[in-house]
Amino acid sequence: MTAIRVAVPASYVDGPDARAQLVWQVGRVHKDLDLQVVDLVRDGDAVVVVLDDEGQGPVTVPVPVADDVWGQGAAGARRLDEHLQRLGLTLATFDPVGRTATAVRAELYEVASLRPAAARALSCAGEPWRVDVRTRFVPGRLDQVTVTARDAGVDVSRAPGLLADLPAYRGVYDVTESRFARTVTFAWRPRPELPETVALEGLLPERLAPDGWHSLPLGVDPDGETVGIDLLGGPHTLVVGPTGSGKTVALVTLVAGALARGHELVVVDPTKGGLDFLALRPWCSAWADTLEGARDTLKAVYAEVGRRKAVLQQAGEVKWSDLPPSVREAERIRPLTVLVDEASSLFIAPDTKVTNALPKDSPEKEELVEQAAAKALIKLLVGKLAREARFVGIHLQVATQRPDADILGGELRSNLTSAVQLTKPGAVPSTAALGMVFSAEQVPEAVRVLGELDDGASRGLAAVAAEGGTVQGLRVGYAPMREVAELLEARGVPHAVPLPVPTAPEPEPAAPPVLVVHTEEVQTPDAELGWDDLAELGIGPPPDAA
Ligand SMILES: Nc1ncnc2c1ncn2[C@@H]1O[C@H](COP(=O)(O)OP(=O)(O)O)[C@@H](O)[C@H]1O
Ligand SMILES: [Mg+2]
Repeated sequence: MTAIRVAVPASYVDGPDARAQLVWQVGRVHKDLDLQVVDLVRDGDAVVVVLDDEGQGPVTVPVPVADDVWGQGAAGARRLDEHLQRLGLTLATFDPVGRTATAVRAELYEVASLRPAAARALSCAGEPWRVDVRTRFVPGRLDQVTVTARDAGVDVSRAPGLLADLPAYRGVYDVTESRFARTVTFAWRPRPELPETVALEGLLPERLAPDGWHSLPLGVDPDGETVGIDLLGGPHTLVVGPTGSGKTVALVTLVAGALARGHELVVVDPTKGGLDFLALRPWCSAWADTLEGARDTLKAVYAEVGRRKAVLQQAGEVKWSDLPPSVREAERIRPLTVLVDEASSLFIAPDTKVTNALPKDSPEKEELVEQAAAKALIKLLVGKLAREARFVGIHLQVATQRPDADILGGELRSNLTSAVQLTKPGAVPSTAALGMVFSAEQVPEAVRVLGELDDGASRGLAAVAAEGGTVQGLRVGYAPMREVAELLEARGVPHAVPLPVPTAPEPEPAAPPVLVVHTEEVQTPDAELGWDDLAELGIGPPPDAA
């Protein structure tokens, strides 16, 4: 290693071009050395640039330039630079008057641009010598960069964005920061890649597997490992993403996994009338494709919570899974997944301004008031289920475009303890949006993971995390709906027995009722839920309520 110290005037403005010039000038004297700038220090009035010999051949090379390029000015220089980049070089000087151009090895040029960038990022742009930048190259990429603040006045915590402008050499940089050593290190690793699609089939057990009831696979990570939701760690799930991002597909994947692991299933999808889930209907213990149906079905599920609580009380147990298998069998207690799609439109009540403006006794007004009551009851019931149902083995999978507590209610939001964020290709959600889905500690990880894994084209990119857990990036498993049914049949997943419903909704004479009604009274005081529960929300019974 041959270090050369060059004092330059204090007016020296550091930058790639200045360095290339410097290297070139020094190189004219030290023709046998391959120089790059390795340090920059303040020494009295002068700035001392330390050049080091890398021993890899000449640093700057004169470039032969076709005659017509000189006349094109900046555009010509750009064309020349593009051409040089393909050779691993970059244009260092371009002088159309003197008709000379020189090139420098691209990586050195990038290194040279790092210190000014670091100084800018650390808010000491005018004094680049307060920052020390060390680099390590391996052929084809910048392998490691260490940025150190030379004095305590420079805050390295601002540095992580530093490499954003550099080409990533088909990789990404892991950033580690030591405030104590005032150092930030960027270490290259290959960019992780997800498969473009993941087949649902690979995520399902080969046959019905009730023992694995609590782990619901969702997709695979860049290592090809299955990633999903563990109901023991996060009993209820919130699935978030814009329209077309794959929320419904994620729900189908989760519930297909649940069915294949012995769950019962209830589908609540009044917004789209259950259309997306039709093929699952034979496996549904209850099915709600209207607002009233959603209300009644959720009442029935809540009654089921009460029934199960009574069984647990009788047996002196706290959790359903602690019940002896014989009791579970006799009382028909197995995990039950409740799928709610498009929850935001289910929860947002009709605008009261509109309702109030309608004439009293008009059918529209009555309808809107009834809708508001149904939605309020649905919201209340989902909230109660999220709070109380986990111990009796009932688990919610709720999808929404809008995850804000304003819409879901703060308590419900906090009880949906597993979160899945889906993204559309090329549209990683903002930090603010991710902040509504993940905890403050998880958000930076979610931003990083989704940014790294987005290939700009493939559907079903998601990040998943349980409360307090790590964020994992994955490609969600997918199968066309008709295939989902075939996969379930092939695994011998039994069709559903309807959920017992303690109170009878009026059966529609034309269509066969989905909810089979048991006439005997179930002794579950907890399950009673009436208009009293809604009084606190200022909602009274519709005129026809008994
Ligand atoms: N994981 C995935 N793998 C492959 N294709 C997907 C995946 N998720 C979604 N898609 C495609 O995107 C379409 C829209 O997904 P969907 O789940 O209906 O979105 P959302 O419910 O968020 O509006 C699907 O019909 C499917 O074609
Ligand atoms: Mg959908």
